[in-house]
Amino acid sequence: MTDLPDSLCFLDGDYGPLREARVSVLDRGFIFGDGIYEVLPAYGGRVFRFAEHMARLERSLRELRIPNPFSPDEWLGIARRLIADQQTRGVHDQLVYIQITRGVAPRDHVMPPGLQPTVFAMANPMKLATPEQRAHGVACVTADDFRWRKAHIKATSLLGSVMARQIAADAGAVEVVMFRDGFLSEGASSNVWVVKDGVVMGPPKDNLVLEGIRFGLIEELCRQQGLRHELRRVTRAEVLSADELLLSSATKEVLPITTLDGAPVGHGAQRGQPGPVCASLYAGYQRAVAAQSI
Ligand code: PDD
Repeated sequence: MTDLPDSLCFLDGDYGPLREARVSVLDRGFIFGDGIYEVLPAYGGRVFRFAEHMARLERSLRELRIPNPFSPDEWLGIARRLIADQQTRGVHDQLVYIQITRGVAPRDHVMPPGLQPTVFAMANPMKLATPEQRAHGVACVTADDFRWRKAHIKATSLLGSVMARQIAADAGAVEVVMFRDGFLSEGASSNVWVVKDGVVMGPPKDNLVLEGIRFGLIEELCRQQGLRHELRRVTRAEVLSADELLLSSATKEVLPITTLDGAPVGHGAQRGQPGPVCASLYAGYQRAVAAQSI
């Protein structure tokens, strides 16, 4: 077994070393993946877009009929304590991971009512894109979106995403760009954006994609920067002929895809290079981080 970190974690009301935390084998999170999670970026100890992450956590819980065990203020208190512990270890930028499962019960598919949810949280160092990835962009490969059709729920049952990401890893790529019935959906753990003639396009906000917290932020940044923004079904042909392709997520922030299935993205002098729209959205992202973290 690889070495486990000795940082602090939160489990069911108590704080203790992460490597010693234990849950029951009958936890429905273990047995069924019956739970939800959130990943919140914290820069220099300040959580970015906390309210938006809380709203999504609430939406995911409601879909699974699991009660939210804490108020946003209580969640913030937990996050801050875990962040402070990592800061004492010299970690500056962090990712706070929160997981809530339905709880512990004898194995039965039907959702047992009245269970005490299992609540877990930890903070980890944030692995941002490397300077090399920022300067040159990253490689992605296309894949069929074989995940379930409730991708809008941030559920811990992530086997589809794990298998999709492995397709990228096996190809030496950073992420998959997935298509369902010929239309763009998203990455295994990020949203995907297509830039064509100055228009930033993404898929509709429906049950087939996770609405990233950066999903709304990209929309906001486009508005601020006077860029046209369209959410609609985007075809494979449109993706393959894009001027720029971008990934967004808590850790990728806004990151350029510069090769897709080995072919350079874009046209002319910019072919295979990060483009201007990505650069300006990334700059806007950094300004938002500086202005809005709590
Ligand atoms: N993943 N789509 C999927 C399927 C995701 O798993 C994620 C995030 C996103 C982007 O969401 P956000 O902008 O809120 O990070 C889109 C997280 C980071 C994870 O699973 O670790």
